[in-house]
Amino acid sequence: MTQSLTLTASGGLRGEITVPGDKSISHRSIMLGSLAEGTTRVHGFLEGEDNLSTLKAFQAMGVDIIRHAGGMLEIQGRGLHGLREPGDVLDCGNSGTTMRLMTGLLAAQRFFTVLTGDQYLRRRPMKRVVEPLSLMGARIWGRDGGERAPLAINGSALQGIEYRSAIASAQVKSALLLAGLYAQGETSVYEPHLSRDHSERMLAFFGADLRTRDGGVTLSPQPRLEGREVQVPGDISSAAFFLVAALIVPGSELLVRNVGINPTRSGVIDILQQMGGDLRLLDERNLSGEPVADILVRGSSLRGIVIGGDLVTRAIDEFPVISVAAALAEGTTLIRDAQELRVKETDRIAAMVKELCVLGARVEGLEDGMRIEGVADLQGGRVGSHGDHRIAMSMAVAALRARAPVTIEDIGCTATSFPNFWQLLEQVRK
Ligand code: S3P
Repeated sequence: MTQSLTLTASGGLRGEITVPGDKSISHRSIMLGSLAEGTTRVHGFLEGEDNLSTLKAFQAMGVDIIRHAGGMLEIQGRGLHGLREPGDVLDCGNSGTTMRLMTGLLAAQRFFTVLTGDQYLRRRPMKRVVEPLSLMGARIWGRDGGERAPLAINGSALQGIEYRSAIASAQVKSALLLAGLYAQGETSVYEPHLSRDHSERMLAFFGADLRTRDGGVTLSPQPRLEGREVQVPGDISSAAFFLVAALIVPGSELLVRNVGINPTRSGVIDILQQMGGDLRLLDERNLSGEPVADILVRGSSLRGIVIGGDLVTRAIDEFPVISVAAALAEGTTLIRDAQELRVKETDRIAAMVKELCVLGARVEGLEDGMRIEGVADLQGGRVGSHGDHRIAMSMAVAALRARAPVTIEDIGCTATSFPNFWQLLEQVRK
């Protein structure tokens, strides 16, 4: 039985919240902490299902990781060559980041592994990492000629590569950099737009030797990584649901504390400001090599805009909730260059078009985006999550401006990235 929830429209959202830790940074802290020498302590680790998949995979490879209360992890690093062959298949659950980054790392180990995932992850494209890793000498097999998991990986000696990726993907870039730690010679990755650079920042923080220039990053192999204290900032992708919620509900005033505002991730702030949203960054500071701020947001009248190019890469996970903002903005919003949305946890263009239309929005799907005509208010109805955490939470935000109750089906998936989403939403609605 899947769980459903019915929400009604809300008055102004008020108060202060802290959203859970960044998902991308939490994954990388386990990976690099495990490969480092000595102890790594991670503060503010996101205890969502995706990150727990990564945590269990590293435990299965012999890494001692202790979970303390309040999202604190203590990892006893085993060094670059200390991982052990796991006794069973590694289950990545719903997490594309776990599967793709680990494919790079495991391709270079001296043992055999099999990676699998849930029904959604087993449908997602894997050749984007399998192909360039094969050029480095990796031996990886998968269904559909290596395109789909389960993936079987026979670790081997790798050579460095200079790779020009056709897509801007942090998962591709990071998989190659993790493989490149073990390769003979340097590994360089170029991408059409700079995707999130958490791997580069954290590798440098742990002591790796890498340089960035001309839209590319180059890593020197065989570094000695050293255990660190990692402070994980709040996830801007989780904050985004509350930013949009506060903007679209008149009379709202909400402070979201301690949010990561890395420029490769902060496209959602630029987009919402361009739409006329009253969003202010307060107390900007630095946490373990990542920029952070508190964000003050007030209810605003939004207007439609055109979104394309590198702004899409900088806001890639926020389009479900950006489309909710656009559905209630004045005029037309056009989203282009966003074909990657079709291969996320679900096809997010198809899913948002279908569910927003149920609520009376005027949305049309394009091959690489959406055209959205704003309406004054949404209507009630029954909508689905498509098993995708970000679709479920976006529909919850939409419900705050619906004239009648909205029932969201299959909401359990929010635990993937935001286990306390529903409690926080109740807290700020009061
Ligand atoms: C992620 C990279 C992005 C993003 C995903 C997390 C990461 O995917 O959509 O949620 O942690 O590296 P792509 O690299 O495929 O764009």
